[in-house]
Amino acid sequence: MSRCCRRSGVAAVAAVLALAATPLPAAAPAATASAGPPAVPSTPRFGFGKPATPQEIAGWDIDVRPDGTGLPRGRGSVAQGQRVYDEKCASCHGTFGESNDYMAIAGGVGTLAGDAPIRTTGSKLNHATTLWDYINRAMPFNAPKTLTVEEVYALTAYVLHLNDLLPADATLDRDALLALRLPNRDGFTQDHGFMTRSGRPDTRNVACMSNCAAEVRLSSEMPEHARDAHGNLAEQVRDVGPLAGAKTAAAAPARGSLPAAGPDGGELAKGNGCTACHGTASKIVGPSFREIGGRYAGAAGAEATLAAKVRSGGVGAWGQVPMPPQPQVKEADVTAIVRWILGGAR
Ligand code: HEC
Ligand code: HEC
Repeated sequence: MSRCCRRSGVAAVAAVLALAATPLPAAAPAATASAGPPAVPSTPRFGFGKPATPQEIAGWDIDVRPDGTGLPRGRGSVAQGQRVYDEKCASCHGTFGESNDYMAIAGGVGTLAGDAPIRTTGSKLNHATTLWDYINRAMPFNAPKTLTVEEVYALTAYVLHLNDLLPADATLDRDALLALRLPNRDGFTQDHGFMTRSGRPDTRNVACMSNCAAEVRLSSEMPEHARDAHGNLAEQVRDVGPLAGAKTAAAAPARGSLPAAGPDGGELAKGNGCTACHGTASKIVGPSFREIGGRYAGAAGAEATLAAKVRSGGVGAWGQVPMPPQPQVKEADVTAIVRWILGGAR
């Protein structure tokens, strides 16, 4: 079936749902739904659509459940799976499932209870039927629903083998798949946070109906082991919203005999509310601190000029949006921030 016709299947399924109370005609025409709007109204109630045929419904009803509902009969071996995998999956997921740009699908089994859980298909799934279902409906990413039932069995076997959950000579059929018990079979809970197992769940909440907090502050946290995983977030350009990334990089090692660094201008700018309007590297309401530093670096008297501008505000140097005066900021902070800006805002 081409894409066009599957899509008209959706319309038909929707029509059946809408008309659930109306008895369906015994035999609807076969899946000949051609592209274009359905022309002949076959039901009096809404005047459009037609009942979905069993074939049309079957095309969408592909979910496979842990009890085996929806799982077609078939079989495939680890060895067969390896051949298909190397051809159709390894380019993205890596030869051993270790990831090649796209997500890893092997490794991490047994790590979920530790400090640095590694979530992969092998470590996190509770039912092998879900792996079958997912490969069947969604993979390969660039050509989903192109695999045969046999290929899906074989790939499921091979992915489990990559996770050391099936031996190399294993073959999976329907019964064998249903009989498998994955390591995380009973591990699904809602009692812990997403990143930290000790933290509170971030998705479960009870709606407040009285005496609710007047102001809600949203925040996020990052576990220690992830801090520097992607460089210093504070230096990274963010195009959306006045969000200054947290300073994540570990403190730079002291440089030889240079005097110890003074107060961190970047932190002070954040603490004094400047980062609501200035990103370190991106323009928000005002220019980025880097741009400012770039314009004035080396200019005579720049430190005094900028310090005065921070105190008294002003307009016209960067556009028509005024910078409001900031008289509340401590003199020492202004100096430190301006020096930090002129030093390149690093
Ligand atoms: C073009 C790249 C690409 C190819 C080719 C590809 N995948 Fe994927 N795969 C992905 C991406 C991207 C995701 C994550 C999708 C998402 O989260 O929505 C994914 C997710 C998965 C997952 C779920 C992992 C998890 O932890 O949830 C499995 C299992 C998987 N792929 C297996 C396969 C198999 C088997 C094949 C070969 C038939 C394949 N993939 C081919 C890109 C690819
Ligand atoms: C409400 C928004 C806002 C806040 C808060 C804000 N600024 Fe600005 N800032 C601006 C705008 C807009 C400009 C550009 C003004 C102009 O074009 O002359 C600017 C310009 C600047 C300049 C460049 C001045 C020049 O003449 O080139 C510096 C330095 C500066 N801000 C520092 C700070 C510091 C330090 C703080 C915190 C104490 C701060 N800003 C808080 C909006 C803001």
